[in-house]
Amino acid sequence: MDDRAIGVFDSGVGGLTAVRELIRRLPGEDVVYFGDTGRVPYGSRGVETIIKYARQDVAFLRSFDLKAVVIACGTVSTTALDILAQENSLPVIGVVEPAARAAVAATRTGKIGLVGTKTTIASGAYERTVRRLMPQAEVTARACPLFVPLVENGRYQPGDPLVELLVAEYLAPFKEAEVDTLILGCTHYPLLRDAIAAYLGEGVTLISSGAACVDTVAELLEAQGLKNAKTQGGEHLYFASDSAQDFGALASIFLGQDIQGQVRQIAIENY
Ligand code: DGL
Repeated sequence: MDDRAIGVFDSGVGGLTAVRELIRRLPGEDVVYFGDTGRVPYGSRGVETIIKYARQDVAFLRSFDLKAVVIACGTVSTTALDILAQENSLPVIGVVEPAARAAVAATRTGKIGLVGTKTTIASGAYERTVRRLMPQAEVTARACPLFVPLVENGRYQPGDPLVELLVAEYLAPFKEAEVDTLILGCTHYPLLRDAIAAYLGEGVTLISSGAACVDTVAELLEAQGLKNAKTQGGEHLYFASDSAQDFGALASIFLGQDIQGQVRQIAIENY
């Protein structure tokens, strides 16, 4: 048993798709979340900048006594997972391997689609992992750079003309490629799940990279004897690098519970 918290971070609110699943699956675990809303989006920045930001995010989280860190961000997972894992003497879990595993388990035809940020797609990390697990897989990948700002601005509902327009524009190649599984390789994208599902139709399984990584967290805690002694009532702390109020309003939608008033703003540049 290990009662220390799990640290989770993302460039913004997207990583809360992982936290929501973490709370559902492991309700006794304490969680410290950091969303770098002052510097979102990461996905259109250079690799050096993303690594610098990710190091600061982990340094802030490690001001708490943690038992593991979850990189609930596709962009950081594809760019800085190895570096962060080497530099930190605790388990660091990313979203790529878990999401690739879930996609390979779900596909019937081997035609797998991938959407993510510009940096994530350019890294090729998801494709490499899918092909390692399923060499015959046909992967179609596309960057969707406007999805993150859309979601961070609270625009994700089906029926919103801007959402429908971007979903149709970005996802047309996946219809053409007849994928039966689509990896939402950025943790913000599950908010667009209803609009994406409506466009692609019922035959396509959508894999949330944030939710998928919780399988790995649960396996790790079990295998290493790190589970919290509590089985319910985990404590959850939320931090952001921009307005706590704005984060709280949007985060409440992502989490499906009201956390307004429970968010603190921190100065991430000091870490
Ligand atoms: N949630 C992040 C990801 O999974 C968003 C990236 C960004 O900030 O552009 O990639």
